[in-house]
Amino acid sequence: MNKLLQMKDLERHYDTPAGVVRALDGISFEVSEGERIILLGPSGSGKTTLLNCLSALDSPTGGYYRFLDAEVPRNNSEEMTSFRRENIGYVFQFFNLLQDLTVLENILLIQELAGKKDPSRAKELLNLVGLEDEVHRFPGEISGGQQQRVAIARSIAKRPTLLLGDELTGNLDTETSNKVMEALVSACKQENITSMFVTHDEGLVKYATRVIRIDSGRIVSDQSTNANPSE
Ligand SMILES: Nc1ncnc2c1ncn2[C@@H]1O[C@H](COP(=O)(O)OP(=O)(O)O)[C@@H](O)[C@H]1O
Ligand SMILES: [Mg+2]
Repeated sequence: MNKLLQMKDLERHYDTPAGVVRALDGISFEVSEGERIILLGPSGSGKTTLLNCLSALDSPTGGYYRFLDAEVPRNNSEEMTSFRRENIGYVFQFFNLLQDLTVLENILLIQELAGKKDPSRAKELLNLVGLEDEVHRFPGEISGGQQQRVAIARSIAKRPTLLLGDELTGNLDTETSNKVMEALVSACKQENITSMFVTHDEGLVKYATRVIRIDSGRIVSDQSTNANPSE
């Protein structure tokens, strides 16, 4: 498997009146293409900060981060934005769909913003997440789990190299979470997308090829599961 990214001794420290907060305090790991990583850790352990650094939403204050053999820009918002546009997809806990647009139109809008409107691919993506019968419905007319699957289709519409999610099933019941995760895994396999998802839910570990646990801004365990990236 080809190497996708590498972080080494990555730090994100905040200077606050109460002292230095070490949100990330020496994170080192590598990710290969095709991995599906679940990131677990208690509240305040640095999970969101790590996703923000991975996606160049935030700038690390120390250490090294390379993506596809190039240094990831930091402290330059234009370069960070173009890095993110080219490489990163993001699925949010709250689906952020536009309520006045149909399911299909929500996807078409994203394609348009990226300059490549392609209705047949939009339908293919909705098919991939099991929403072929809902394309002309509005977000308010479908369930929360279905809305999250629209958001997943939207996040992969631009073919990101790395797909990130922060508590993306946090609002869903267990059965719905499982359906969403199944849709996500099959979409990632089909589109050859590497993924990393933050969760509190140990039940999602079964969807991952690798589980990383962090605490106090440090990796405390990093283990492969039995799942094969291509199966
Ligand atoms: N802007 C900030 N200023 C100061 N401390 C922050 C800031 N953002 C996050 N932190 C601190 O960094 C630590 C990690 O936060 P976060 O990454 O949000 O944790 P998690 O997502 O695991 O709950 C926490 O102690 C949090 O209070
Ligand atoms: Mg968080």
